[in-house]
Amino acid sequence: MARADRYSPDPEALWGGCPEGLRWAEDLLDRMGLPPGGLVLDLGAGPGLTAVFIAKEYACRVVAAEAWPQHFPLEAILARAREHGVDDRVLPVVAEAQRLPFAEGSFDAVFSYCAFHYLAGDATACREVARVLKPGGVLGICSPAARVAEVPAHILPVLAHDRWDLFKPPEWTAARLAGAGLAIVLAEHLEDGYSNWRRRKAGEEPSDEAGRVARQAVLEDGGHWLSVARVIARQRGDERNPLPVVECSW
Ligand SMILES: C[S@@+](CC[C@H](N)C(=O)[O-])C[C@H]1O[C@@H](n2cnc3c(N)ncnc32)[C@H](O)[C@@H]1O
Repeated sequence: MARADRYSPDPEALWGGCPEGLRWAEDLLDRMGLPPGGLVLDLGAGPGLTAVFIAKEYACRVVAAEAWPQHFPLEAILARAREHGVDDRVLPVVAEAQRLPFAEGSFDAVFSYCAFHYLAGDATACREVARVLKPGGVLGICSPAARVAEVPAHILPVLAHDRWDLFKPPEWTAARLAGAGLAIVLAEHLEDGYSNWRRRKAGEEPSDEAGRVARQAVLEDGGHWLSVARVIARQRGDERNPLPVVECSW
């Protein structure tokens, strides 16, 4: 049984286009190879479920950085950590990726779930993430994504309500991270990315126009554009780096 399955499903706990929730997070974390006892930044921690998961299942200390505390109050993140018995290992903070309040080389890993699509196009944010990673430190991202950068006609109506123009191919995100000096380890679409988009939207009864437009776009898309992707990148400077690095030529 996946470790993720020990956690009760919580539709409020994982947002955006990542309906497979903690299973995708677990898969990404396993690939990242976190050092037990290491210090991890959960960037865009939201309600704190991933921070709790990392603290509990990977024996790491986690800084849960949240840029929208009005949506995700720090007290709620801490309460979730307390409920799971890891409040001594989860530290919620308000922080924006463009100016991270941490010293250079602070973290063994940065993990960002359903959040990096807001940040990848911002060179300052990418540089900040690279700055706070230790030499050899690893960045893992899982976010809603697109097969090609251009938004197709059937998705355009969604843009009146939602920023799906931020969904980009993993290679696009990887190129931004490479531009910030990171070595790219992996950039790929999840096999079940679109099927999860579809299953979730097909089961929804939208209560407003935005929901109806999004549902229609997802069903019409058929996986031609919409996706979910993961990217892993590594800070350079550690010769013991055990992960193979692929050259980023995008
Ligand atoms: C859809 S929520 C995802 C929350 C959580 N990771 C999850 O999966 O439930 C999007 C997240 O993006 C983060 N975010 C947006 N802009 C940000 C910024 N400038 N710096 C850091 N995080 C940002 C917000 O803090 C928010 O938690």
